[in-house]
This record gives sequence, C-alpha cells and structure tokens, in this order.
Amino acid sequence: MRIGVFDSGIGGEAVAAALQKAYPHAHITTVNDKTHVPYGDKSASEVLSLTDIALQPLINDDNDVIVLACNTATAVAIETLRSKYPSQHFIGIEPMIKPASLKTRTNTIAVCATPATLASERYRELVKKYGRHLDIIEPDCSQWAYLIENNQLNRATVEVTINEVCTKGADVIVLGCTHYHWIKELIVEIANGRAEVLEPSEAIGRRVAHLLDIQYS
Ligand code: DGL
Repeated sequence: MRIGVFDSGIGGEAVAAALQKAYPHAHITTVNDKTHVPYGDKSASEVLSLTDIALQPLINDDNDVIVLACNTATAVAIETLRSKYPSQHFIGIEPMIKPASLKTRTNTIAVCATPATLASERYRELVKKYGRHLDIIEPDCSQWAYLIENNQLNRATVEVTINEVCTKGADVIVLGCTHYHWIKELIVEIANGRAEVLEPSEAIGRRVAHLLDIQYS
C-alpha cells in the first residue's frame, strides 16, 4: 500500500508517523512545502495553487491515496483537487466539530486553527451542520504554525491561550491544524483535565482502511 502525505510543513510528519504506526508495512511518502509554509495566513487561491504545485510528486508517484494532512489545504483545495485528478483518492482533514459536539457537556468548545481554515466556507458549513447549538471559541493561534515550524513556540504562549479557553468554559479543545499535533501533550498538560483535546490521526487511519478496504490495525 502506498500512501502520500501532504502538508505545508511539519504537521504532515506527525500524521505520517501515526499512519506508519497503524500500517507498519505501508510505503509512506511525505511531501511538504517548506518554501511557502505557513499557508494559514495566505488567501484561498494562493493556498490552492501552492498545494496543487507542491503535491505533484505525490500525484506522479502512484499512491493509493493522498492524505492532505493540512486543514488549511483541505478547507480550500480538496474539492478542486478531486475534480482535477478524478482517478486519485484524496483524504482531507477537517476540524473535529462533530465529535466535539458529541463530547462537550458545557456546550462550549475551542477550535484552534489557522486564520485561513477559520475563514473558509467549508469550516463555516461544518459549524452550521454540527455546531449551531455550541459556543465555539476560536482563539488567535495565527502565529502557532510558523512558531512550531521553527521550533520557537514557547510554553507561556500556549498557556495563555489554553487557560483562557478553559476559563471561558471550553471542555473540548479541537486541534484544527496538524502542526499543533506536535504540542498535543503540552496542551493536555496545561488543560489538566479541564478539557479533552481532540486531533484526527486515528480517524484518518480508519478512513484509509475504509477507502482501501483493508483492516485498521
Ligand atoms: N498544518 C496545516 C494545517 O493543518 C497548515 C499550517 C500552515 O501552514 O499555516 O492547517
């Protein structure tokens, strides 16, 4: 099985590592766009064209599936990519509003994501579909992807954000950017039982199994 994983930067490597653990025999190729990361502060059309260009090696590499391990690229590009490459399977990643809506008891959740994801129509549709009855806090994480990419995000910055959303009553925190997977443990530690932290690695693994009709391990 050949899986291609795309992200603007190191978020894809976190997703690829989880997939490799679930499918030890899979051949996984990760491609990122180090030249243009972060995508999260770019316009939808820029993200679309950068994604299309950067993932060409994966399109040409005969992958059974390409995982867009990037909420930002999924939000603005996945439909166009599916139409442009109809014989290629794509799996995208979206903020886990639905699971969060089923878990929350305070009806308050936090979605940590890039500005481009939060501004996208797909995200707004998700909120309309599953989050109408929720109070959704969207804290300013606009610098996080850049800082994580450059190993510069410090604990104090994350602490301010996480403490703020917990104080406002969020009992579920959705990681809507794959870069943040790298700081999941830190966020769990700061939340300290006040909120559950959701990210989609396992769901992606299950989606791969479903799509390719194989067993999820
Ligand atoms: N890791 C990406 C995401 O899931 C993109 C972050 C960025 O490039 O701004 O949204």
